[in-house]
Amino acid sequence: MCGIIGYVGKSEAAGILINGLKALEYRGYDSAGIAVLDKNRLGVVKAKGEIKCLEEKLKDESPRGNIGIGHTRWATHGAANETNAHPHCAGHFSVVHNGIIENWREIRDGLEMSGVSFESETDTEVIPKLLELNYSGDILEAIRKTLKLLEGSYALGIICSNDARTLYCAKKSSPLIIGLGKGENFISSDINPLLGRANEAVYLEDGETAAITEDSVSVYDPDFNLTEKEKKSISLGAGTAEKGGFEHFMLKEICEQPQVIKNTLDSVTANGGVCFEDFPYTEEEIKALERIYIVGCGSAYHVGLISKYNFEKTAKIPTFAEYAGEFRYADTVLNENCLVIIISQSGETADSLAALKTASESGAKTVSVVNVPESSIAKMSRYSVLTMAGTEIAVATTKAFTCQLAVMNMLCLYIARARGACTEVFSEIAANMSATLPKKAEKIIENTEKIKTLAKEISEVDKCFFLGRNVDYGAALEGALKLKEISYIDCVGYPASELKHGTISLIEKDTVCFGLISNRELLAKTASNLAEVTARGARVTVFAPESLGGELTKIGEVITYPDSIPLLSPCLEVIPLQLLAYYTAKEKNLPIDKPRNLAKSVTVE
Ligand code: M6R
Repeated sequence: MCGIIGYVGKSEAAGILINGLKALEYRGYDSAGIAVLDKNRLGVVKAKGEIKCLEEKLKDESPRGNIGIGHTRWATHGAANETNAHPHCAGHFSVVHNGIIENWREIRDGLEMSGVSFESETDTEVIPKLLELNYSGDILEAIRKTLKLLEGSYALGIICSNDARTLYCAKKSSPLIIGLGKGENFISSDINPLLGRANEAVYLEDGETAAITEDSVSVYDPDFNLTEKEKKSISLGAGTAEKGGFEHFMLKEICEQPQVIKNTLDSVTANGGVCFEDFPYTEEEIKALERIYIVGCGSAYHVGLISKYNFEKTAKIPTFAEYAGEFRYADTVLNENCLVIIISQSGETADSLAALKTASESGAKTVSVVNVPESSIAKMSRYSVLTMAGTEIAVATTKAFTCQLAVMNMLCLYIARARGACTEVFSEIAANMSATLPKKAEKIIENTEKIKTLAKEISEVDKCFFLGRNVDYGAALEGALKLKEISYIDCVGYPASELKHGTISLIEKDTVCFGLISNRELLAKTASNLAEVTARGARVTVFAPESLGGELTKIGEVITYPDSIPLLSPCLEVIPLQLLAYYTAKEKNLPIDKPRNLAKSVTVE
């Protein structure tokens, strides 16, 4: 949550900071601001709302200078207004911050008692105040003394009006990258703003601080000794974070699915079979596994839930899907015969990262499935499988979701084979997945007329139910989350069998219900549950594979997608649900890529 950017070089900083913030805007868009240094004059401009509001303001009063910092905010402490927007300043210092200072209240109370006054309601403002108090001519020393007092998480960008050549930054439990350009250097919360301007990057570790000029980078370890850092080349080509002619990132990302699913599957396939290169656990260790926990937040949890059913059915091993925020505090009994799989698109989700730490400390075996290669989760994992979805910008995840499911299916087959639960048929499935799934996904994306019509109808309603059993329950949760997240319609995903234990009292004439039936085994039971709601006047639309479509017309409208084997069907089933969410939000003229109150990367617990 929140994005920070910093620049030092020869160009005017303001424009570069604004472009950088646009690339980071998906991390939060409650307010934004920049601070630019010209010799020793600090110019600060902030605005409530999206970056375009800040840009508008800068038309009248753009600060000049070749060094600066910028911030796009997802509010944690204090309302989304201009006063609470970053940068926060005190005396010589200006600071942008991503993270949470947990002991801010104590620090602030102490400072207030000694006469220091505050303007904002933020946790961040204590940082510039402390820097100024700790400053007696040595900026690094002021930073060192200040960081010692802070508890919590931070990625900080700092400038000081006494040094218009140096940009400072520090990191603890929030992501921060230093981008190395030609005669200019950057700091950023992620790689996107660096694309096309920096060829190499230095990834800071927790506890490290850096002093950056246009042609040098000095990194200090937690004891403030100079330390050598590896430079990594920036591999993503410029333009990956652009809309490419689509109206929204979300639609672009939905449409990219056939290709990225294929890329992902190919990356874990070799010689016609599943291949997780350098998988750290032996066949004996996999055979000895007693339980698997699949852990994630939001959509990543839904991938976990769908996979739980697949792992139990195919690999015959007790499997549990857990919300990361619950798992980390649940005292789950773990040992070396447990495998904990952490799923995260960003690789930065605070709860998922903490769950990984908990699992690793307990001695359990761990694997992560992430989409961002140098992310905290990827780096902390003993073994990390990379989904090949590419940069995902829309807050509502789509392509990362299906790529995660694709990896989890392969992992399921890999574990099943190692445990002897896998027959020849399963190897064939692995080999054919990459040939079949992408084409079928493409077919769904090419036929959206029925979905668009449905979207028009439901854009008028204020509540919807998504009902399914087993894997379809996971898909129901995902369909409901996708629709509510961007259309603001109150949606509930429910196990189809559970409705009559209370919730059915909400069903009345014309209540919109979506039934999900992804394979024949689930048909009869879910169909009966759907009949229970139609009997009470609900308007039901069923999403099902083509071969089942004809059997469902009595229940209601049917939207079909290509047939597949049960293991793979959910991967296709969610695509019409993504499209439904997209077109409904479009119908309502809502900010699809940046829904209210949300941020793409949730780096606070
Ligand atoms: O980056 P992560 O996969 O760890 O993020 C987890 C959730 O925050 C994320 O899936 C969220 O639920 C999406 N916005 C849903 O579309």
